Amino acid sequence: KTIAVLFGGDSAEREVSLLSGRTVSDALQSLGYQVREIDPAEPGWMRLLEDVALAFIVLHGPGGEDGTMQGALEVLGLPYTGSGVLGSALAMDKRRSKQLWQGVGIATGGFEILDSGTDWGAVIERLGKVFVKPACEGSSIGMAPASNAAELESAYRNAAAYSGDVLAEQFIDGPEYTVAVLGNQALPSICMETANEFYDYEAKYLSDDTTYHCPSGLDAESEREVRALAIAAFNSLGCEGWGRVDTMRDRDGRFYVLEVNTIPGMTSHSLVPMAAREAGMEVPDLVERILGLAWE
Ligand code: DAL
Ligand code: MG
Repeated sequence: KTIAVLFGGDSAEREVSLLSGRTVSDALQSLGYQVREIDPAEPGWMRLLEDVALAFIVLHGPGGEDGTMQGALEVLGLPYTGSGVLGSALAMDKRRSKQLWQGVGIATGGFEILDSGTDWGAVIERLGKVFVKPACEGSSIGMAPASNAAELESAYRNAAAYSGDVLAEQFIDGPEYTVAVLGNQALPSICMETANEFYDYEAKYLSDDTTYHCPSGLDAESEREVRALAIAAFNSLGCEGWGRVDTMRDRDGRFYVLEVNTIPGMTSHSLVPMAAREAGMEVPDLVERILGLAWE
């Protein structure tokens, strides 16, 4: 039985996916699986799926993580890892994720949608310092902080180059905690500290000045709280299999969900492998668990 590992793709996170997919493919091969590596950016790749038993999707961003690939695999009748069409599509869209969380009472930072007619100064007056983000990108691509009208307008213009809405999200002054989800279980949280202004692309993949704490140093009650929040946020979007929920903790100790990643990074700098290791799983164990959840 051949497992297809889908990685690469043509989103802004292609380079990250190439590294994540390499990790997964190598792990599967070390476990003795027959693996076919497929890059959906190549023409004719769908023919390569004909005789495979399952697709392990390690694509990040639009086109791979947003439900479109999941829908194509549904039509082919091919089992695949991770979330289905709805969970993937919702989690890829930060605007609709946050609206849903507001609706069901899951804590998430206040936000507004920006467009070219926005009164920049009024947004800053209402929200204070914000982070501007394209709604449908990952890895902090297109993101920038803004503390005044001029910064907000320039951050908007930069983020508007990406597809989907542009959000201004209230800045939460505290460290970022992330929680990996495996099945219906939350793994130990990780706390990130960066020398950069925020945990941006450079801090995520290039910098050696980013510090990761795992275990995160939270007391037992706060650890339970952040894990419960992660599971609630994941389940509320209809996500399945595996993922990673990013949160911020403010100075009063309250957690706010930033986003759910349905196909989180699996690079050597990535967080899910780090959390899994803390839970006693090496990368091949983790990959086998994700695969097992896909057959269920
Ligand atoms: N979007 C990147 C790959 C992550 O969430 O890890
Ligand atoms: Mg993301």
